[in-house]
Amino acid sequence: MDNRPIGIFDSGIGGVTILQHLIAKLPNEEYIYYSDSKHNPYGEKTKEEVIHFVDGIIHYFIAKDCKAIVFACNTATALAIDEMRKKYPNLLLIGTEPAYKMIHDYAPNSKTIVMATPATIESERFQKLYHHYDNQKSYLLACPNLAHLIEEGEEEKLTSYLQNLLGPFQKENIESVVLGCTHYPLISKKIETVLRKVKFYDGGEGIANHLFHLLETNHQLNLNKAKKEVYFEDSSYNKQKKERFFTLLTELQK
Ligand code: DGL
Repeated sequence: MDNRPIGIFDSGIGGVTILQHLIAKLPNEEYIYYSDSKHNPYGEKTKEEVIHFVDGIIHYFIAKDCKAIVFACNTATALAIDEMRKKYPNLLLIGTEPAYKMIHDYAPNSKTIVMATPATIESERFQKLYHHYDNQKSYLLACPNLAHLIEEGEEEKLTSYLQNLLGPFQKENIESVVLGCTHYPLISKKIETVLRKVKFYDGGEGIANHLFHLLETNHQLNLNKAKKEVYFEDSSYNKQKKERFFTLLTELQK
């Protein structure tokens, strides 16, 4: 039994799409969510910059005595998790990766689009995963600035962005879309207005199951059933962001 909190972070509020799965699977845990909106978006930053930001966030979670830290960000995972695991071998660090393996497992013959930030798509970590499971029917789509538009809730810009990005695939009969950035599940309906009905894949549920299993094996689950808080911290102290985060969390949990 371990009552310490779980730390979870993203470059902004997109990681809420991972947090909803953690709460569903691990409802007795306390969560501290860190949104690094001061440095958002990560997707167009260098590896060195992202490592530096993530290291700062890990220090924050160490000071809060977290028993596990979830990278609710594909970009931070792609660029920084290997270095952080080397630097902090005793910390339980859980990453988020584009769920491309799920195509291999559940829809190997489907025409697929993988959407992610430019940094994730170009990363060595993702390229390895992609080449390992390549079904020869996939398009890799780097989406510069998309996470930022979602983060800021720029509805009109989002609609035209997606039309430009995905419009050329309308006649391709795309069946599967891998949402390789934690912000993207927030716009799945908008993606379908361009591509029509597709099946979405993201890492949320898998991460929750994985974390549950690790904590259970280590006897680190919080068994105290009293109602738990989600604490929110934003690196630019943006109050509106906090409100939007909790509104989204409530909507996702419906
Ligand atoms: N939500 C993040 C991800 O999963 C990154 C978005 C960004 O800051 O570019 O990749």
